[in-house]
Amino acid sequence: MIKKEMVPFRFSDKEVQCWFGVSFDDIREQLSDKRVIWVTDEHVYQKYPEEFPAGECIILPAGEAGKNQDTVNTAIEELLNMEADRDVFLVGVGGGVVTDMAGYIASIYLRGVKFSFAPTSVLGMVDAAVGGKNGVNVGLYKNQVGVIRQPEHLFYNFSFLNTLPELEWISGFAEIIKHACIRDAEMFQFLLNNSLEDFRQDLNVTGDLIRRNAELKYKVAAGDERESGQRRLLNFGHTLGHAIENITTMPHGFAISIGMVFACRLSEKLIGFDPEKTEALKYLLKKYHLPTETDFDKEKAWDILVHDKKKSGDTIHFILLKGIGEGVVHPLSLSELKTLFFEM
Ligand SMILES: NC(=O)c1ccc[n+]([C@@H]2O[C@H](COP(=O)([O-])OP(=O)(O)OC[C@H]3O[C@@H](n4cnc5c(N)ncnc54)[C@H](O)[C@@H]3O)[C@@H](O)[C@H]2O)c1
Ligand SMILES: [Zn+2]
Repeated sequence: MIKKEMVPFRFSDKEVQCWFGVSFDDIREQLSDKRVIWVTDEHVYQKYPEEFPAGECIILPAGEAGKNQDTVNTAIEELLNMEADRDVFLVGVGGGVVTDMAGYIASIYLRGVKFSFAPTSVLGMVDAAVGGKNGVNVGLYKNQVGVIRQPEHLFYNFSFLNTLPELEWISGFAEIIKHACIRDAEMFQFLLNNSLEDFRQDLNVTGDLIRRNAELKYKVAAGDERESGQRRLLNFGHTLGHAIENITTMPHGFAISIGMVFACRLSEKLIGFDPEKTEALKYLLKKYHLPTETDFDKEKAWDILVHDKKKSGDTIHFILLKGIGEGVVHPLSLSELKTLFFEM
């Protein structure tokens, strides 16, 4: 059994109460003095219909396609129909799409009501729910509109993972491997010694792993909430990853997996990263059923890459590895990167 424990996550403007190892009943009990409106998506609702009280629940469409302002406006109309006032408390229960939108809706409804998250996917637990970024996509451009605002609580109920589809497990583990690469060599070894199947079978071990990752994300994100420094490390594998995701419609985790291998090769060329470590990462990614290469149109990928919102002027802050567990921010001019990109 995972121990129930509250860990404070201290951000500049707010202390988030992060509860690990809680049940749905625990969440309800914590919020028993509030009028809670639950925000979830169709898939999560279908799996846990009895947990969401009729009339006090907003069910968003599942998936990235519905992560936009239209969905937000519909949800706001529902809140108005429910006569939700300033004291209402929103709880986003779902993957990253739900928590990103629930946080955004709560931040703009009546100029802001309080909210909490109960992430239900691996990616949501280790990444999306932590750090205070909330928002929606605009057309094909991801997360272009939003706010930075922290929830009151994060509730980790690991039993949600029992219903998470395998593909989502795999995709979420790409972010866990990313964390190991940039900050936690010991976790890299731990992942090598285990397998996805081991983790799926033992939610106690998985709960510990997820907690370690949520804390890692918190530590990297806190103090740099607007991403001008070390938070950039979290973009490891994401520069090329986003471009591949965009042109191949590959799941996010799969695309960043390929992006991480590319970033390792670049690290070999630019800062002497050990090529054997690149091989170790490829082995680990394959072990977790993630791809390490794919055919893609380089010209197209380059076009998308240069439009990446992370670029400032003609410099890209590329995340490289000095060693496993040692991510570094490496400013690269676009022309330098272009030459390297097309010769690799
Ligand atoms: N805010 C941030 O800092 C941040 C960081 C990383 C990613 N994100 C965002 O997170 C989103 C991706 O999150 P995601 O991978 O969780 O995607 P998602 O929310 O779309 O969830 C993936 C799929 O799994 C389903 N699902 C989730 N939990 C389930 C469960 N317990 N049982 C059954 N089905 C379940 C969902 O309905 C969906 O179909 C993206 O929109 C991305 O932009 C945000
Ligand atoms: Zn990611």
